[in-house]
Amino acid sequence: MCGIVGYIGFRNATDVLLDGLRRLEYRGYDSAGVAVRTPEGLRVVKRSGKLSVLEQALRTEPLAGHLGVGHTRWATHGAPTDPNAHPHATEDGKLVVIHNGIFENYLELKEALLARGHRFASETDSEVLAHLLEEKYQGDLFQALREALREVRGAYAVVVAHQDHEEIVAARTVSPLVVGLGEGENFLASDVPALLPYTRRVIFLHDGDVVRLTREGVEITDLEGRPIHREAVAVDWTPEAAEKGGFPHYMLKEIYEQPWVLENTLGGRLQEEAGEVALGLALDPLAVERVHFLACGTAAYAGWYGKYLLEILARLPAEWEVASEYRYRDPVVDGKTLAVVISQSGETIDTLEALREAKRRGARSLGVINAKGSTLTREVEDVLYIHAGPEIGVASTKAYTAMLAAMALLALWFGRARGTLAKEEAQRLIREMRKLPRLVEETLERRPLVAHIAEKYHQARDFLFLGRHVQAPTAYEGALKLKEISYIHAEAYPAGEMKHGPIALIDEHLPVVVLATRGPLYEKTLSNIQEVRARGGKVIAIATEGDEEISKLAQDVIYVPEVHPLLAPIVSVVPLQLLAYEIAVLLGRDVDQPRNLAKSVTVE
Ligand code: F6R
Repeated sequence: MCGIVGYIGFRNATDVLLDGLRRLEYRGYDSAGVAVRTPEGLRVVKRSGKLSVLEQALRTEPLAGHLGVGHTRWATHGAPTDPNAHPHATEDGKLVVIHNGIFENYLELKEALLARGHRFASETDSEVLAHLLEEKYQGDLFQALREALREVRGAYAVVVAHQDHEEIVAARTVSPLVVGLGEGENFLASDVPALLPYTRRVIFLHDGDVVRLTREGVEITDLEGRPIHREAVAVDWTPEAAEKGGFPHYMLKEIYEQPWVLENTLGGRLQEEAGEVALGLALDPLAVERVHFLACGTAAYAGWYGKYLLEILARLPAEWEVASEYRYRDPVVDGKTLAVVISQSGETIDTLEALREAKRRGARSLGVINAKGSTLTREVEDVLYIHAGPEIGVASTKAYTAMLAAMALLALWFGRARGTLAKEEAQRLIREMRKLPRLVEETLERRPLVAHIAEKYHQARDFLFLGRHVQAPTAYEGALKLKEISYIHAEAYPAGEMKHGPIALIDEHLPVVVLATRGPLYEKTLSNIQEVRARGGKVIAIATEGDEEISKLAQDVIYVPEVHPLLAPIVSVVPLQLLAYEIAVLLGRDVDQPRNLAKSVTVE
């Protein structure tokens, strides 16, 4: 999940690398480094800490050259120290390697290399590749890389430069790598935002691809050296879209983007008159008898919501599960099972492996994904893009609401196809879905009130989040947002489950956020609020506009506009995102890059 940039051309390589790394910092940020081919040879500068530490080092020790590679790291093997930062050089300093992913057999390889006299400068698994390359290299860097990679097992995106070559060679398997095509210059990056200021023409490399970049061109082969042709595609993200747009944090910008994101996700897919949705899927909805939603973290909660909707609207048995569990148990799957993988990045390794497991057992597959061209999109039979645009803040916000909207689309589609959802009810839902962008816009206006509530409770040590029915996933998502960016301990429970244990936690110090919008279980949720109040807990209710009753029960109420109860989570999660954000800011946390987390988790 680290960030990689490579450049060959006519510009100052250091500038391009730093610029690219800045745009990829969300992928990992505990150390960073560059190597540039200077007139004095290949020079490496690398530092533990944030990218700014490396930038400072490069100001005092500038590297001039037109070929270079850069890396921002999220530590897997070896602590975030200077020696463990990438690039890793051979002992003679002539060759450097950058690696994302994990070489699973590195210990074996390292032992053999040590026995053959190699000396290691770091504790990383990545460094073995530099030594392997040193052994394989006979003047042809491209060939040496293919040979070295045949000996490693695991996931990788690797980039290699050599002092005597005006070229960069690279390869990928599992970890993402994209080539950016320019005029008289070419680029490499682990993700598109790094390329956007320079080019929109990209080639998404596939598993097993090995690539050679010169100023003039790009050559791709497989690991055996057989030439491969990959089409270049035009990406439509502007560089501005990937930047903060005037907000102090990406996360806040992304929270505010949700109205247009929902337009994007839903727009063009809703056919109100016919009471249908047009998803452009090849999948036969009538061939599906059960659905498994597989995802991680926030995306998994979207799957939970999807399960409820599919069962309610389409009477289709559905399960949701975190991918890291699913992939290692013994799930019951057959040809009538549809595995729906949900992912913002499209690169989450657990989700990918859960998908592969489901497919091995005969499941059909569908991806609900944000990142175009990502690994997951290539491994599923069908994709329903959520069109949320690049999400940079580590805490997912706009991708979540877009995923929920996609779940609603999917449930409607199945419901209509299976005859379980009447046209009139579908039309009603579609009318409500059309309102969502506006309702989320209105909800964003509650920010001053949310900020006030955050002020009141930001010193709390723990929070509890409660919700029922479709709002249970919202409660979990609210707790996840709060804990990941504020580092406050937060738990979520289906409200009805509270009396079976967590009620013991409640005292006058515990703020309890309750999703209490109008819906089938509204009255029951009110009883749960009473239970909290009776024990001195402080209730912050998310309630439907016009609900007077609730203000008598809760200390604080954040009203959200009324919408169809099944769609309420899409609106109600917004104040929870804002609450987490405001609390994290008050506590002086690093909102966009919370400790220990990375945006795209491509290791197990
Ligand atoms: C939480 C968060 C993570 C991701 C999870 C899956 O804010 O962002 O829990 O949702 O790592 O990532 P994707 O959706 O990229 O597969």
